[in-house]
Amino acid sequence: MSEYRLQLEEIRKTFRDGSETHTVLDGVSLGVQKGEFAAIVGPSGSGKSTLLTIAGMLLSPDSGTVSIAGENVTQATKKEWTKIRREHLGFIFQNHQLLPYLKAREQLTMFQLKEYRDKVNIDEMLSELDIEACRNQYPSEMSGGQKQRVAIARAFVNDPDLILADEPTASLDGEHGRQVVEMIRMEVKKYGKAAVMVTHDERVLDLVDCVYRLEKGKLI
Ligand SMILES: Nc1ncnc2c1ncn2[C@@H]1O[C@H](COP(=O)(O)OP(=O)(O)OP(=O)(O)O)[C@@H](O)[C@H]1O
Ligand SMILES: [Mg+2]
Repeated sequence: MSEYRLQLEEIRKTFRDGSETHTVLDGVSLGVQKGEFAAIVGPSGSGKSTLLTIAGMLLSPDSGTVSIAGENVTQATKKEWTKIRREHLGFIFQNHQLLPYLKAREQLTMFQLKEYRDKVNIDEMLSELDIEACRNQYPSEMSGGQKQRVAIARAFVNDPDLILADEPTASLDGEHGRQVVEMIRMEVKKYGKAAVMVTHDERVLDLVDCVYRLEKGKLI
């Protein structure tokens, strides 16, 4: 039985550029199931980040529907969005966006909601991602790969069902980039989560279950 964590149906998004309108997403549909790791590739400016931002409810589509964990959230109010985001979503951005004045472990404890403290063990996660040694280090003392792994761990502290990652390997070399994608895959497979990753990095595509290409506003 299929269990969709994310369903996008006929998403359209247009941006105004002076007097011109520019259709970035022209009827995009996508379904990602529990245990599935999907990648979105495509040229720069094709709308990949826009699509991920809509999937993560940080931006509204002009038309089309967004369902998260089987619930149509397109018409949700701001307050409902916040709740759904907290309960279901984990974001990983291109730039790790760690806070410079917090040590690695604090980056995670700071973001973890009270109700997940018993459920998600931060020390276990640090060890699983092989960044235990960084627990008391500030971002400035960590390597790029370590920072990105802390950012991944942070995306997981509230046990999300759906992980949205926008070019998580962009600031990393090949080996560390691959490690990061392997971590996401492990989380998806081991804990039955779902993930969508936007990437330019062809070398990690063997780690995902399916690859979609966004071109001229369409997903193929
Ligand atoms: N807030 C906005 N206002 C106006 N135009 C926007 C806005 N956000 C994105 N765009 C335009 O939409 C198009 C798609 O942008 P988007 O960032 O989604 O592309 P992308 O595929 O992620 O590109 P890249 O691979 O370079 O990250 C671009 O032409 C961009 O200029
Ligand atoms: Mg982008």
